[in-house]
Amino acid sequence: MRIKSLESYKEVYNKSVSNPEAFWEDIASGFTWKQKWDKVLDWNFTEPSVKWFQGGKLNITENCLDRHIETKGHHTALIWEPNDPKEKSRKYTYQELLEEVCRMANLLKAQGVKKGDRVCIYLPMVPELMISVLACARIGAVHSVVFAGFSAQSIADRVQDAQAKVVITSDGLNRGSRQQAVKRVVDEALETCPFVERVLVLNVLGWEVPMQEGRDISINETIQAMPSWIEAESMDAEDMLFILYTSGSTGKPKGVVHTCGGYMVYTAYTFLNVFQPEPHEIYWCTADVGWVTGHSYLVYGPLLNGATTLMFEGVPTWPDAGRFWQIIDKYGVNIFYTAPTAIRSLMSFGEDPVLNYSLHSLKVLGTVGEPINEEAWKWYFVHIGKEKCPIVDTWWQTETGGIMISNMAGVTPHKPAHATLPLPGIQPVLLNGEGKVIEENGVEGYLCIRFPWPSMIRTTYGDHERCRQTYFSNYAGYYFTGDGAKRDEQGNYRIIGRVDDVINVSGHRFGTAEIENAINTAPEVLESAVVGFPHDIKGQGIYAFVIVNNPEQDADMRVAEIQEAVVKHIGKIARPDKIILVKGLPKTRSGKIMRRILRKIAEGEFQQLGDTTSLLDPGVVEDILAKVR
Ligand code: PRX
Repeated sequence: MRIKSLESYKEVYNKSVSNPEAFWEDIASGFTWKQKWDKVLDWNFTEPSVKWFQGGKLNITENCLDRHIETKGHHTALIWEPNDPKEKSRKYTYQELLEEVCRMANLLKAQGVKKGDRVCIYLPMVPELMISVLACARIGAVHSVVFAGFSAQSIADRVQDAQAKVVITSDGLNRGSRQQAVKRVVDEALETCPFVERVLVLNVLGWEVPMQEGRDISINETIQAMPSWIEAESMDAEDMLFILYTSGSTGKPKGVVHTCGGYMVYTAYTFLNVFQPEPHEIYWCTADVGWVTGHSYLVYGPLLNGATTLMFEGVPTWPDAGRFWQIIDKYGVNIFYTAPTAIRSLMSFGEDPVLNYSLHSLKVLGTVGEPINEEAWKWYFVHIGKEKCPIVDTWWQTETGGIMISNMAGVTPHKPAHATLPLPGIQPVLLNGEGKVIEENGVEGYLCIRFPWPSMIRTTYGDHERCRQTYFSNYAGYYFTGDGAKRDEQGNYRIIGRVDDVINVSGHRFGTAEIENAINTAPEVLESAVVGFPHDIKGQGIYAFVIVNNPEQDADMRVAEIQEAVVKHIGKIARPDKIILVKGLPKTRSGKIMRRILRKIAEGEFQQLGDTTSLLDPGVVEDILAKVR
């Protein structure tokens, strides 16, 4: 299963393309199945309908945990580093993690959770987050993790969409020097979700929080009485494993659905080949489990491979900007996977915080979530990797479930700012504006995938048509990624960024329409248009042009209200970086907002606005320019 040389990569890749079924069948055979599949693959991209390992039965937690007990029961599965470096860390062996997962699974079961039920998990980065995810999978419940930075309104939208019966949450959370309420946010969200039967509350801060009689249950008071064993539910390969909400071009986030068998096979395979972990090595992915990277490469991928995965509760800059490097030295981390935004933010503190630590344990570095600029790549390579660690630049998406295009550490070469080559089984193509495949190299186009892979999106929860429309309708017969990419003369891919109305802020996706909808709820707002602009740390920042009644009056208050509306509807992570109050927006005669012009203004390229004569009122551009210059 593991590829060890460039030659073998080429050979395996060719095999995977010439006979994908045989290729994946072989890899799938290395897992524990309760029953073998009847058919490896059944697919069409028109409905779309994609089914891998049909007829196969399994439980992913048996593959993450039970399978390792005999040989690795006493090996560390999870290391948890708390927010405060003075507090005690926690470690779980595979045996202990299995027991904790079973306890939580029994607790969920005792609360009436059954196979197929949706459970919303809104927890900070504590071990119980991972335990809850696996506990759901153990009993066949579908987890829907919501990042603990999302607002009450966002939780409510997601709980309603998934019709979750149970929510798992905590009293509050630690974030650097601050503590924040969590349960209170859930309580507010659930005011509009009366169908939620149970809220399981974990004590993280030791706060007294109001508990609703008949609905809320303390995890701490009930968990120890739960048996430490439960049989793993038998799941069909195509049964739902989880829903994860992500933003798209339209206003409402969609629930990306992943299924048990294919997701397991693909995340395990890609973790092993991209990061090339050796036994006893320590692997650290800094992503929150609230995002897909946390799902696939903090929880499932490493555990499926019997690796030691590190989870960090805190932030990179507290108590100081050396916190990441201190953790690497403390545990002897060998493989480190983070986001360009974190690298750029730490780079801004200079080399001093790095020089306090040796970082000699590092062997492999990784990046994910957004294009990494060459300057950040070089800083990472020189100052963190000491010019000896390969950097895997992993391109993928919530919808792809696992890494799609990336070099493989020490096996295929890296190239600054390039995700490089497709992993075995992945068939990317670049399409031109007419939807034709561009065959040659040294080109640029819309990135699509022409053949299914095991962990691809199956549907958008409760709305299959939306899945078809978003990913399979732009270019018939292809999965459309929404990204633009270049391919160099050697066939290496370089991802340019989104070509749709999605902004990638610090590696997190937001639809412009989603932010506009939130802004439009603020008092006195008549209309708004949001675009992305280059941001030194975040990659892209959010730039909002907003028409309000009487922009000259109470401008500061209007701006504050707009910020507040976004925080309320989405969360602090989507707060606009710039808000300009304007009299009008550049529109065509048919009423369409010309975002191209707004993007140029946001980028500060005032001389390159292009033709503005087709605008209904070219004067609005002058008005906007007068405000931003
Ligand atoms: O634009 C691409 C960018 O992030 C998008 C996917 O976002 P999300 O579903 O939130 O998943 C992020 C973590 C997998 C992509 O459409 N992206 C992700 N990784 C890279 C990237 N852009 C460039 N290089 C990458 N390595």
